[in-house]
Amino acid sequence: MGAGLFDSVESIQKELADLDYICDVNIATVVFLARRLEKPVLIEGPAGVGKTELAKVVATATRSQLIRLQCYEGLDEAKALYEWEYSKQLLYTQILKERFSEVMSGAKTVREAAERVGREDSVFFSENFLVPRPLMKAITADTPALLLIDEVDKGDPEFEALLLEVLSDFQVTVPEIGTIRAVKRPLVFLTSNNSREMSDALKRRCLHLFIDFPSEALEIRILEAKVPEAGKKLSADLVRMMQALRKLDLKKTPSISETLDWARALLALNAEELDRDVVRRTLNVILKYEGDVRKAEGELDKLLAERVDDQRSGAGAAATSSAQRAGKDARHQA
Ligand SMILES: Nc1ncnc2c1ncn2[C@@H]1O[C@H](COP(=O)(O)OP(=O)(O)OP(=O)(O)O)[C@@H](O)[C@H]1O
Ligand SMILES: [Mg+2]
Repeated sequence: MGAGLFDSVESIQKELADLDYICDVNIATVVFLARRLEKPVLIEGPAGVGKTELAKVVATATRSQLIRLQCYEGLDEAKALYEWEYSKQLLYTQILKERFSEVMSGAKTVREAAERVGREDSVFFSENFLVPRPLMKAITADTPALLLIDEVDKGDPEFEALLLEVLSDFQVTVPEIGTIRAVKRPLVFLTSNNSREMSDALKRRCLHLFIDFPSEALEIRILEAKVPEAGKKLSADLVRMMQALRKLDLKKTPSISETLDWARALLALNAEELDRDVVRRTLNVILKYEGDVRKAEGELDKLLAERVDDQRSGAGAAATSSAQRAGKDARHQA
């Protein structure tokens, strides 16, 4: 990495944009501080807003090896940290059979034989027989690494406890071997969808980043970066519609991933603009529950009219439509 690159909030924002990740100054600031302070980042926010992608692009931008740990219920030390390579240990005992007979020859009792073998067992509990899992890999990596602990909220509280040792000291203790310390601290990104609250102890060790649904302007830039073929007008219409849909009280609010999917679907259908018919036919691309589709259909005329109004009379209509939206919000809260 050249001098000065990825070394200021502005350059981070720019380099991520070069990799088609468009972010505001808040996100870039957290990434900057995470590197400077060598602190893990806990990224929270709704599904599909770019939590996982942020970790991936930062790894690319910093030329770091991406080490990913996907969390799930039942994830344990053996899968997250390390495990002993049982089959290799077994193979070695077979090969070393004769040596073992020598060690044991002359032993008078079973107990004595077992004790003699026991004295040799450190051979089998050495790094040679250790299978490193993502946490261990990240700690022992000798080139820059970015550890992504994805969907940490899906793991069990016991797993969180394990993370605490790793994240506070960047070290792992293997009873048979001792403590292994990171030569170079990896950058750590944790993501959570908030399916459960993370412990205070974990939060304290991390910088916190909440990524929300993007503003209209940001979402248009993301769409232009990811699906440039959509063109200015379709992109603007589509994003405006998405922003309005997010204000409805839906079971699953559509996210950036749905905006991108929708743009690609519309292009595949050769739709040049959003009309009632094409929107109706493609709502299933962005809404995943039948109830949500029906709710959106019920509001479709209003959503489309809003868009047309805004386009016809500029600022005046924009004011009206935001007043309409404010009215809608008030109804939701009621
Ligand atoms: N700021 C952004 N710039 C460019 N693309 C983005 C941005 N945010 C999200 N995306 C795109 O949106 C899609 C979803 O992003 P991602 O998978 O990172 O979401 P997530 O927040 O991890 O969702 P989940 O909680 O479901 O795992 C990806 O295709 C990603 O490239
Ligand atoms: Mg994700």
